[in-house]
Amino acid sequence: MKPNPAPSTPPHPGALPEPQPEAAPRPRVVLEARGLVKRYGHVTALDGTDFELREGEILAVIGDNGAGKSTLIKALSGAIIPDAGQIFLDGKPVHFRSPIDARRAGIETVYQDLAVAPAMTIAENLFLGREILRKGWLARLLRWIDKKRMLEEAIADMQDLKIGIRSMSQAVETLSGGQRQGVAVARAAAFAQHVVIMDEPTAALGVKEGNMVLELIRRVRDNGLPVIIISHNMPHVFEIADRIHIQRLGKRVAVVNPKTIRMSDAVAVMTGAKMPEELSPEMLAY
Ligand SMILES: Nc1ncnc2c1ncn2[C@@H]1O[C@H](COP(=O)(O)OP(=O)(O)O)[C@@H](O)[C@H]1O
Ligand SMILES: [Mg+2]
Repeated sequence: MKPNPAPSTPPHPGALPEPQPEAAPRPRVVLEARGLVKRYGHVTALDGTDFELREGEILAVIGDNGAGKSTLIKALSGAIIPDAGQIFLDGKPVHFRSPIDARRAGIETVYQDLAVAPAMTIAENLFLGREILRKGWLARLLRWIDKKRMLEEAIADMQDLKIGIRSMSQAVETLSGGQRQGVAVARAAAFAQHVVIMDEPTAALGVKEGNMVLELIRRVRDNGLPVIIISHNMPHVFEIADRIHIQRLGKRVAVVNPKTIRMSDAVAVMTGAKMPEELSPEMLAY
């Protein structure tokens, strides 16, 4: 047995615990990437980019066209395999080889276009690709779908997110754009264990519907799932984001605080009109 080293000051009865140095409460990092590289021929889409998503936050990713936002999100959601760099989920290295791998690991992605299947009902859409099968070997063999249970769970999910849809057996094509996007977000939120990623979730929506989806995204965060949102809509970004990751020329050039930076400064860094070093420390949010 190894003896413990003698404490420098022996404890005495009734002694208070030693004062700990004031540790800044640092939120847990849920999803992280370091030095991601992705090349397409001679185009470098990701040039050693870093990324960090923390627990309880909405993180916006902004950047000019071609900055590598979509490629970054694809790497994090398993849609592409980076040429170099590492991704960590809850601190553990992960190597996604397909979107299914990322989904199994608890990362759900809402894509702008193929969000929902219009001719199917809301309930069917919520469970698209992973319908709940009835119990029993015969049902499994025949891949019977348990419609009743699907419907019950769908209603519960929608109520959780307050989308305000009356009938779950309504076809999605009868819904407004905002409600459809709501179905896609609800589906992601219902299945995600760790992270929800949304690429331009409000791009195709009107003002009212856009606001509804923003509200929904906030609720997803408040229900305990951190959210990554890519958006070109600066007012939306500033309204909803807790932190803003600025991507430029394939790299993360700054992470800024929407409460302390002006929109014009964030855009200037994004376009290269301003260097990140010109920002004052309170504007940064690392
Ligand atoms: N599949 C691809 N094949 C070739 N080049 C690509 C491909 N995907 C992205 N790129 C290039 O990589 C760069 C970054 O693209 P992307 O990640 O889509 O940027 P963003 O989403 O910020 O507009 C661009 O120059 C783009 O043309
Ligand atoms: Mg893109």
